[in-house]
Amino acid sequence: PIIYFITPTYPRREQVAELTRLGQTLMHIPNLHWIVADDTLQCSPMISALLPKFGIPYTHIASPMPPVYRTNNAVPPRGVANRRAALAWIRSYVKSGVVYFGDDDNTFDLKLFDEIRDTKKISMFPVGLIGSYGISSPVLRKGNVIGFFDSWPAKRKFPVDMAGFAVNVDLILKHPNATMPYKAGYEEDRFISSLGVKLSDIEPKANNCSEVLVWHTQTLKKPPPTVKVSMELLSIVDTSLVK
Ligand code: UGA
Ligand code: MN
Repeated sequence: PIIYFITPTYPRREQVAELTRLGQTLMHIPNLHWIVADDTLQCSPMISALLPKFGIPYTHIASPMPPVYRTNNAVPPRGVANRRAALAWIRSYVKSGVVYFGDDDNTFDLKLFDEIRDTKKISMFPVGLIGSYGISSPVLRKGNVIGFFDSWPAKRKFPVDMAGFAVNVDLILKHPNATMPYKAGYEEDRFISSLGVKLSDIEPKANNCSEVLVWHTQTLKKPPPTVKVSMELLSIVDTSLVK
């Protein structure tokens, strides 16, 4: 099966660095289609120029967060509009395969891809560096998922991170209304619930959820430098960086 790796991404000064590191991870994976979903009105020319350099199959689409969600929330629902667009693309063009949401700043062990590729319905596995516990993982008993270990349960039925599960395309196609809400922190739970998933459907991966194969790394954000820039330099700075 082909892995459809969906990466929401947005303009900031770290973006090209993040996508370069991620692209160079994905270069090692056969049968993978990278969907880069831009949180922009139109596909960013800088990202359009970057993506062909990896020599892997990809699709670059754009769908911006509606401005109302950015202004009305202290923590906006990040990456929802663009992940939704990627799901719509899958529904339109894909008949089979496995979908995985890989944020642009996470760190992926190459072994993860072998694990998720044979996902029948939905698979789950631990994610490192999540929350105050430092890990988020399904809890197993005799090889079956019976609950979750996560530092922010928040009454979620599936308290997992976006990077902690993979879904077969078939399950997505069988649930045409399945979607992700514009509600920060609840995207995963509501999406998985909208796929009609039961605990008994979950296929544990990563050696019965005993190994960490993906990390929720975060890049330290710094404001853009405030140095005086010459006109010559300004002409090569993409305006999307100045946000
Ligand atoms: C955590 C989860 O790991 C995300 O999967 C989840 O979407 C997010 O929280 C959330 O619920 O808001 P976190 O590291 O806190 O992720 O957030 P970011 O890495 O900043 O954003 C998640 C993804 O969305 C990234 O791929 C990022 O590039 C993208 N994003 C972020 C946008 O597309 N637009 C934005 O305005 C911000
Ligand atoms: Mn992140």
